[in-house]
Amino acid sequence: MKTEVLKGKKAIDKGAELINRGEIVAFPTETVYGLGANAFNEEAVKKIFQAKGRPSDNPLIVHIADKKDIYKVAENVSAVAQKLIEAFMPGPITIVLPKRKEIGNTVTAGLNTVGVRCPENRVARAFIKKCGVPIAAPSANASTRISPTKAEYVLEDMDGKIPLIIDGGMSKVGIESTVVSVTDDIPIILRPGYVTSKMIAKVTGVCKNFSGEIIKSAPAPGMKYKHYAPVKETVTAVREKLEETYLLNVNKNPVLLVSNKTADIIKKNNPKFNIIKLGKSGIKIASRIFSEMRKAEKIYDFIIIEYFGEEGIYKSISNRTVKSAGGKIIK
Ligand code: TXA
Ligand code: MG
Repeated sequence: MKTEVLKGKKAIDKGAELINRGEIVAFPTETVYGLGANAFNEEAVKKIFQAKGRPSDNPLIVHIADKKDIYKVAENVSAVAQKLIEAFMPGPITIVLPKRKEIGNTVTAGLNTVGVRCPENRVARAFIKKCGVPIAAPSANASTRISPTKAEYVLEDMDGKIPLIIDGGMSKVGIESTVVSVTDDIPIILRPGYVTSKMIAKVTGVCKNFSGEIIKSAPAPGMKYKHYAPVKETVTAVREKLEETYLLNVNKNPVLLVSNKTADIIKKNNPKFNIIKLGKSGIKIASRIFSEMRKAEKIYDFIIIEYFGEEGIYKSISNRTVKSAGGKIIK
């Protein structure tokens, strides 16, 4: 199969036509690119699992063009859920709700809940609107690989496997949505993301982290799989261990992926080190982490990522980077 990469209205029209024929299409969102199918068409949804090599027990989230469409896919939307919808949709949040029967078991991997997301990205919403149906979509990477934040990265993983990639430029947020379950009174964060627990608690009064002391629900099924893996060996290390880790692996063609501040300090003492600057702030680093990992793995053979801790947005970044390193933090 030839994979086309198109932009603009032509891309959206063609994409909608393919979706309505039961095909799958990659499209941009503000978090990462998604690989979409008509959420009401089980055969089309199966093609997503095939193209990604995704385990069938990992549910997909359903994307809508307008938040009022939530009632087409979910029911029993609680008062807490409504608060989150009002505060954060459209935007980088996925809300897990009881599913309607029109959403099949392939989408939800047999769960009686569905994750619903209304992206903010203009191209994403125009595309979903044109399709006229909710779009089931995981991130558009091959299973276990780094989530793509550009059309060219989708092509790296999906060339020959899907008919079309809608190119909408670079994803602004850069890490996936926060997944929140609101089937209970207190929202539970199943996957940290751009919308932090503090931001949610501000709106709902209280919320829980699945890794926190009170665990009321299983984490998102997808969290148990290997994720975000570059093709080269990757580790994370705290600021104080970065130089040492580099020197211990200096024969492996290493690179450091660090904040601008850390980069300036290390460069001063070690002008010859290979260093990629990720940005000044947490938000900048989030937006670039996946694309810089994709760049690094093409040039270097040993990737060392700075461990940024667990505060606010840094928790969401660390959730991805530590996974890409197989769970290990050098301390
Ligand atoms: O930002 C995003 O969320 C991107 C863009 C494309 O929207 N999508 C994305 O999808 O990251 P995916 O499939 O890579 O991750 C979705 C996560 C998985 O960990 C999955 O297990 C979890 O959400 N999930 C989906 N439906 C769920 C449900 N009903 N209950 C619990 N977890 C669910
Ligand atoms: Mg994913």
